[in-house]
Amino acid sequence: MPMNILDKLSISGKIVLPIIEGGKGIGVSNGETAGAFAAAGAVGTFSGVFPQVIDDNGEIIPLIFKGKNRKERFEEIIDHCIKGCISQAQIASDIAKGNGRIHINILWGMAGAERILNGVMESAKDKIHGITCGAGMPYKLADIAEKYKTYYYPIVSSTRAFRALWMRSYNKFSDLLGGVVYEDPWKAGGHTGLTQKDNPDVEEDPFHRVREIRQYMNKVGLEKTPIIIAGGVWYLNKFKDLIDNIEIGPIAFQFGTRPMLTQESPISTRWKEKLFSLTRKDVTLNKFSPTGFYSSAVNNEFLIELKERSKRQIDFRNESDSEFNTAISLKSDAKPIYVKSIDTNRIDEWKSNGFSVGLKTPDSTIVFVSSEKATQIRDDQRNCKGCLAGCKFSSWMQSPETNYSTGEIPDPRSYCIQGTLQNIIQDDNIDNQLMFSGSNVFNFSKDSLFSKGYIPTIKEMIQRILNGK
Ligand SMILES: Cc1cc2nc3c(=O)[nH]c(=O)nc-3n(C[C@H](O)[C@H](O)[C@H](O)COP(=O)(O)O)c2cc1C
Ligand code: SF4
Repeated sequence: MPMNILDKLSISGKIVLPIIEGGKGIGVSNGETAGAFAAAGAVGTFSGVFPQVIDDNGEIIPLIFKGKNRKERFEEIIDHCIKGCISQAQIASDIAKGNGRIHINILWGMAGAERILNGVMESAKDKIHGITCGAGMPYKLADIAEKYKTYYYPIVSSTRAFRALWMRSYNKFSDLLGGVVYEDPWKAGGHTGLTQKDNPDVEEDPFHRVREIRQYMNKVGLEKTPIIIAGGVWYLNKFKDLIDNIEIGPIAFQFGTRPMLTQESPISTRWKEKLFSLTRKDVTLNKFSPTGFYSSAVNNEFLIELKERSKRQIDFRNESDSEFNTAISLKSDAKPIYVKSIDTNRIDEWKSNGFSVGLKTPDSTIVFVSSEKATQIRDDQRNCKGCLAGCKFSSWMQSPETNYSTGEIPDPRSYCIQGTLQNIIQDDNIDNQLMFSGSNVFNFSKDSLFSKGYIPTIKEMIQRILNGK
């Protein structure tokens, strides 16, 4: 029995510890965390989503938008992300000093993902050994990896998703497919890959899903390509059925939430303190993200407000009929719309409680919010920076063919994810911002490594992970 629960593995062209840092935007995993993972002989992953740009004197260059509209601001974002990734790759490389491996994480669902990757790899390919990519179907990832001779790692949550990627493009570039990240869609932090086929309330056993992916990979000649298990991984001795199992083949493990409570983690002291106090029921899956994906986050005031907002919702029609027979006006000068007569009592009650503004949604419903919230929603929509490939909150779409619009009306039940993730990493007001988290976060209050408020270094955390406990 080896001292470590896992043997080293070839990842991105080097034999390293099969422990991988989960990429986390905005700025939650960066050059310093990635460098520390690599320095410890593992794999660090900095996030390519709005990374900080650092000048030659080590000063942060903030992104102050000058663009007059979202299309111009979207161009500024791309430029900033490229420069920021180059800064973070340099930081990670300086810390790693040739040890371990350094990966970049890009969300395929972010605007300009392809342009950003090309821009970064042109300048920093010697410092980046692999590209991890999720949140969408990154078909073009393989071509980009081939262009820069870098390893690539799609993040999937089902065999179906991997099969589609493989058949459409990855089969042409199998040598550089460094691994397939299986992210448990019920447990992982951040956006998750739950589909309409999955029941968010009924978790499936990762063993069966991973085995199915391996069976498919074996069928197409990928027996030696590792599967990287992500989502809900904390103590490796709970994954004994997957380790050294010929049915599962080579595997590595990715940690997203656990490295957030380390010395190198850039999140605020308040956020770190909060992590110590969270229990199992504090983390829930929700579907409010403007990307349309499910995501896993702490059920704080930010999320509670979104849930309450969506409950204050009724159907409406533009023309009256036998059911929608009661006219109301959202503004004094607006054309009336029609609601069910049974809903008028609820509207009156919401109004009397201060939720006096009705906002239309793309699903022929109206949500009722306070006038302050309505102003905030409209301001956020107006100040959109075009950060996503498609955004249901502002109806921005990165597509000149559709005049940069999804064609839907903006959805007031969602939120600007760019703004809130930027705020939580910069502010102390963490309860009123989106706090992504894996479902395993409650372990911080139970794991003896973190007892009495102790915050380990990334190296210490990795040593502990390798013990299995
Ligand atoms: C705060 C936070 C932000 C995240 N951001 C991203 C991201 O930008 N891109 C991504 O692919 N995954 C992101 N993730 C997912 C992680 O990379 C990782 O796969 C996941 O957290 C694994 O589950 P665990 O939290 O149970 O370890 C994020 C997770 C958290 C907790
Ligand atoms: S409104 Fe949507 S696309 Fe615009 S900046 Fe916010 S999250 Fe990004």
